[in-house]
Amino acid sequence: MERIVLYQGDITEMHVDAIVNAANKSLLGGGGVDGAIHRAAGPKLLDECKKLDGCETGKAKITEAYRLACRYVIHAVGPVWYGGKNNEEEMLASAYRNSLQLAADKKLESIAFPNISTGVYRFPKKLAAEIAIKTVRAFLDKESSLEQLFFCVFDDENFEIYEGLLS
Ligand code: APR
Repeated sequence: MERIVLYQGDITEMHVDAIVNAANKSLLGGGGVDGAIHRAAGPKLLDECKKLDGCETGKAKITEAYRLACRYVIHAVGPVWYGGKNNEEEMLASAYRNSLQLAADKKLESIAFPNISTGVYRFPKKLAAEIAIKTVRAFLDKESSLEQLFFCVFDDENFEIYEGLLS
């Protein structure tokens, strides 16, 4: 069975063990998928996030999911794109890797990623997709507990990019 699945839709509705949030360093919510996840989870998510004391770029922290359909939310902080000379590629790979590691530490079986950094943070979508797929494949090669990994794309552009790269 293919462990990597492309899915187009709203990540807040996914019945997986963990969904990943494209958060900012404050972990206090925002717009985009961060806003959607906090709206769907309810105010208790923000209460828990307030206790986490933020998160560095490239790293991730895990919380409960409250009213969401999933069990956990992994808040990953991707890099803002400043043109590619600011270690953005490594920071994006690190955000995916650290999210996967948190899921593996809890022996989770399924996880869904949004297209981290490709919205407000303006990371080029195709490059981000290449980094995401390469990082995930390398991790899945050495990690067994994760049985299904969903790339949850929201817009058609990202769907086409991932469909092309994954086929
Ligand atoms: N489900 C899945 N994907 C979504 C959803 C949703 N409900 N809503 C938006 N997206 C997609 C966007 O279309 C984009 O492809 O998530 C991707 C990431 O875009 P952003 O949410 O803008 O995240 P990012 O570019 O990483 O910027 C993070 O934005 O919302 C703020 O607080 C957040 O400051 C942080 C910054």
